[in-house]
Amino acid sequence: MNGKFPQHFLWGGAVAANQVEGAYQADGKGLSTSDLQPQGIFGAITPRTAGDSGIKDVAIDFYHRYPEDIALFAEMGFKCLRTSIAWTRIFPQGDEETPNEAGLAFYDRLFDEMAKYGIQPLITLSHYEMPYGLVKHYGGWGDRRTIDFFERYARTVFERYKHKVKHWLTFNEINMSLHAPFTGVGLPQESDKSAVYQAIHHQLVASARAVKACHEIVPEGKIGNMLLGGILYPLSCKPEDLLETQRQNRDWLFFGDVQARGYYPAYMQRFFRENGIQVAISEEDRQTLRETIDFISFSYYMSGCVTADPAQYETARGNILDMVPNPHLASSEWGWQIDPLGLRYLLNVLYDRYQKPLFIVENGLGAKDRVEADGSIHDDYRINYLNDHLVQVAEAIDDGVEVMGYTSWGPIDLVSASKAEMSKRYGFIHVDRDDAGNGSLERRRKKSFYWYRDVIHSNGASLKTRS
Ligand code: BG6
Repeated sequence: MNGKFPQHFLWGGAVAANQVEGAYQADGKGLSTSDLQPQGIFGAITPRTAGDSGIKDVAIDFYHRYPEDIALFAEMGFKCLRTSIAWTRIFPQGDEETPNEAGLAFYDRLFDEMAKYGIQPLITLSHYEMPYGLVKHYGGWGDRRTIDFFERYARTVFERYKHKVKHWLTFNEINMSLHAPFTGVGLPQESDKSAVYQAIHHQLVASARAVKACHEIVPEGKIGNMLLGGILYPLSCKPEDLLETQRQNRDWLFFGDVQARGYYPAYMQRFFRENGIQVAISEEDRQTLRETIDFISFSYYMSGCVTADPAQYETARGNILDMVPNPHLASSEWGWQIDPLGLRYLLNVLYDRYQKPLFIVENGLGAKDRVEADGSIHDDYRINYLNDHLVQVAEAIDDGVEVMGYTSWGPIDLVSASKAEMSKRYGFIHVDRDDAGNGSLERRRKKSFYWYRDVIHSNGASLKTRS
């Protein structure tokens, strides 16, 4: 793989505030939607009561242990770390006029620590959470006023960190609101499609406003969107399967189309009409949407298949989507189908479609790890998964795709989003904590830690094409 990755390729890892920080009420932080879903993004919405607890309340205690963790990332040679700002640390209820200084100060400390090692932050403004206050008092993204609250938050953090953070993302996996509306847009799970698309529209407008604000405030800043890259293949070459696949891929590409091109694609008019979906879009909104992102970022874990006749097939479940299994692929312990070639394909699809730089901001294998008697962890399955995907990234770069960087998901074990499990581990660094919250939180390097360090140090030359 020698020479395929560009010289300034941003190698690193990605985490999210609500899956690592813990300290869920520290220093004035307000409750977020994630705090109300202790069982994960599909779990029941649970009001918090005095004395209760959930695994995310402590998570891996990154809020207090970040210096140790950043030092470990630096030891692997990270050039970049993706994390999110917890909106509720800055605006605890969401609608305050002035930000919470203690929350702002935390991220100053975090970014300063990263700067010590030359690790660039890649910051998501909203990763699967929003202030619960905005849900309770305004109905989340269903209400236009949330756009203004978000813009105030975005402008606040751009001003504060403009000299420390140059790469920003707006909403994590913005397309997942179709499947998990509470997590995505703060609406009840059973909301009808019109309500969800209206809330999504508000979020798209808010995203464009953040892009404008970033361009105004952050010198040399770049801001991208973030898509769940759920690429789908036709199960057969039957024309009906192909058309249905195009339709289903448009369900998620729609978000990228609006954010990268600056307007609603033509195919959505028919989709809205035939599904009885009404979305109020003002002329001013249309103007706002014209402020487009600088780059496309996305997560990639698995691909799936589509048939025009789904009743005949069992579905394979990812954390968000149900897909028809591909008979040619193996699956992870969680049933996610492993498809490294799909990453090369997806990179080419997105580059052909948008001609904007791409950033792979999540990719990884959730697996159970065994700690040996001597404390070592031999996670060859993880190494193989990541190696094979990175080989395909190199191929896509060779195809001519402009790839800015790669941040693997969960470089340190964290709480999983879908079911709030610790046992589903992604890390190069093991954290001693189980699903019940027991454990010392001690950090331990896995075999993959040394493997990834070599990949970064060799700028990808150590990757191997395996048969
Ligand atoms: C992505 C999310 O969907 O997948 C992450 O952006 C999440 O927050 C990751 O953790 C993996 O999913 P899970 O459910 O295994 O944590």
